[in-house]
Amino acid sequence: MKFAILGHFIDENHLERLPKEWIHDNLIVSQEFNFNETNGYILGIMLTAKQMMNYPKETVRQKILDAVLFAQNELDVEIIQLGALTTSVTTGGRWLAEQKNYTGFVNHGDSYTTAVTCQAVEKALNLFEKKSFESILAIVGAYGIIGEAVSKTLVSQFSHSILIGRREEKLEELTAKLKGSFETTVDLKTKDADIIVTATSHPKALLGSEHLKENAIVVDVSQPPNLSQEVCQKRSDICRIDGGYVDYPAKYSFSIPGMPVGKCFSCMAEVIMQAMDKQRENHVGSIDLEHLRKTEKWGEKYGFNLNELTNFGKTINLRR
Ligand SMILES: NC(=O)c1ccc[n+]([C@@H]2O[C@H](COP(=O)([O-])OP(=O)(O)OC[C@H]3O[C@@H](n4cnc5c(N)ncnc54)[C@H](OP(=O)(O)O)[C@@H]3O)[C@@H](O)[C@H]2O)c1
Repeated sequence: MKFAILGHFIDENHLERLPKEWIHDNLIVSQEFNFNETNGYILGIMLTAKQMMNYPKETVRQKILDAVLFAQNELDVEIIQLGALTTSVTTGGRWLAEQKNYTGFVNHGDSYTTAVTCQAVEKALNLFEKKSFESILAIVGAYGIIGEAVSKTLVSQFSHSILIGRREEKLEELTAKLKGSFETTVDLKTKDADIIVTATSHPKALLGSEHLKENAIVVDVSQPPNLSQEVCQKRSDICRIDGGYVDYPAKYSFSIPGMPVGKCFSCMAEVIMQAMDKQRENHVGSIDLEHLRKTEKWGEKYGFNLNELTNFGKTINLRR
């Protein structure tokens, strides 16, 4: 079962970081990667994160569909992983799964990303000797696909949670699905939080120094990141963690431009594992927590693991 991972440029300089042989007229197409008997590609549409979110939705969706049909018709791909903001502009992947001329499967990869994000939160608390029941959690993008599943998993474990989004009505819908001590807000009220998870479709950095409590931990799942290297440099007390990075077995010759060797995004890992497991099904829209647990089992089976915490690819191992 062949897979394709579909992404886009993170910023204007992204093209320069890609291998020349991946660059074609209207599409980025990698060489074929091999995982045991399972093969696949990385594809990229030529729009930056800002263009993805600011261009008319129909224009962006057409580019996504063109890339997916190319993968289906020219590369024999059967399953597409919607990377970065391609999920946000396709109503969680549901729009693509409904297209009649695409007959393959779609997975946003957010289930395993949620699992790995929750593992990263637990690892970070252990590293800094903090207890969840004594800590305040903030989730930015709390009713998004990842944000909702992270909220369902973590809110009940923390002393209090601050759930942040842009739309009141969506925050109300989220409230009905959760148990525990929490508040919802449309303000970026992260300053009280000991640990922050970001999972937004905001196309650039969002958190400034003024949004961060002393010694705050930020698990930054968003791509593009919501916390910049500049703020990290200014605030040596805070710890930013790359959300959704996993390690994969050294036997696979897979590498992603700009990522440390041996690491990939958990959303990519989910679809590679689904293809290795030959599961012909869609995983779009809200996350099914049963499926999330299945992705964790796949991680154990196929050797994809969160072995260490990193910040912009550099290992974090210092205690404060
Ligand atoms: N690291 C990884 O391995 C990995 C894997 C998958 C995804 N991701 C990243 O994770 C992020 C979330 O993905 P997703 O699939 O969950 O997307 P999603 O379902 O579209 O959710 C994103 C949410 O962010 C909210 N949002 C956007 N701007 C905001 C702001 N300024 N303040 C507060 N909330 C804001 C949106 O609210 P509205 O609906 O009101 O606009 C939306 O609910 C994306 O950046 C994606 O690239 C990372």
